[in-house]
Amino acid sequence: MRHLLEVDDLTRAELARVLDLAVDPSPPRVLEGRGMGLVFEKPSARTRNSMEMAVVQLGGHPVYIQASEVGLDTRESVEDVTRTLACYHATIGARVFAHSTVERMAAMDLVPIVNMLSDGAHPLQALADVLTMRQLLGDLAGRTVTYVGDANNVFRSLGLAAGMLGMEVRFAGPPGYRPTAVDADRIAAAGVEVHEFERPEEAVDGTDVVYTDVWTSMGQEEESAKRLQDFEGYRVDERLMAAAGDRALLLHCLPAHRGEEVSDGVVDGPASRVWPQAENRMHAARGLLAWLLGEAAGAETGGAT
Ligand code: CP
Ligand code: NVA
Repeated sequence: MRHLLEVDDLTRAELARVLDLAVDPSPPRVLEGRGMGLVFEKPSARTRNSMEMAVVQLGGHPVYIQASEVGLDTRESVEDVTRTLACYHATIGARVFAHSTVERMAAMDLVPIVNMLSDGAHPLQALADVLTMRQLLGDLAGRTVTYVGDANNVFRSLGLAAGMLGMEVRFAGPPGYRPTAVDADRIAAAGVEVHEFERPEEAVDGTDVVYTDVWTSMGQEEESAKRLQDFEGYRVDERLMAAAGDRALLLHCLPAHRGEEVSDGVVDGPASRVWPQAENRMHAARGLLAWLLGEAAGAETGGAT
């Protein structure tokens, strides 16, 4: 059984197939008469709505579940919640703090598990990101994406997806927030190399896309004051976009902390493509589910589960 916990759960060919299905005007209705349980330990605007609509567009019925309601590892173990939801749903999506939670769900191999963001990875976001870049730039091989900020869940998944499609991946962030050896090894195992730069101005020079994300992710709020100080100088503002060059576009997974990692002028300015990127969350999710519940499942689409 296939799951999507991180982008490198897909081969390069499968990643390309998911992106093709994302733009298929009549994708296979692999969820006809079936359900998807969507469990959230953290808030969401884009992920919840894009997933719910993708499920509906594939003929299915999404059920939004707050983690506090099912009590992951408090009212019931993660395993028992997974067993229960698998009685009703063809697949389960989960947005969690600990990446190990989605790993525990997937280890049961009852239904395909989709990571809707963990502290370790945000693969659905990365699928939308590469879909957006492909629409903007065409073939991504040889193109460059430069991530400025925290080497977090969004960076890891983006680095994998962009690299697997042949992009040059650059990174600039302050000491203590750079990719770890574990990150570098995993990215290298997918055949991708991240080029690290000391200064953001150097990193973005000549890039096709500048990408940033919040300095303080969900669950890190207590570190917010320290992070604001540590990341000073890494804001994507008009000055940094000028250093990137005329053709550089801006992507941001959103929500944006305006005035922190990105200025109002840039996120609302002519280089910004953050709204098509947000819309693509739904198309990418639909492509992923069409593949996961269709071709990857041997195209078995009958039954409730
Ligand atoms: N980009 C993203 O995952 O947004 P939400 O947190 O609103 O789902
Ligand atoms: N890195 C951010 C992404 C939000 C979509 C977080 O984990 O909060």
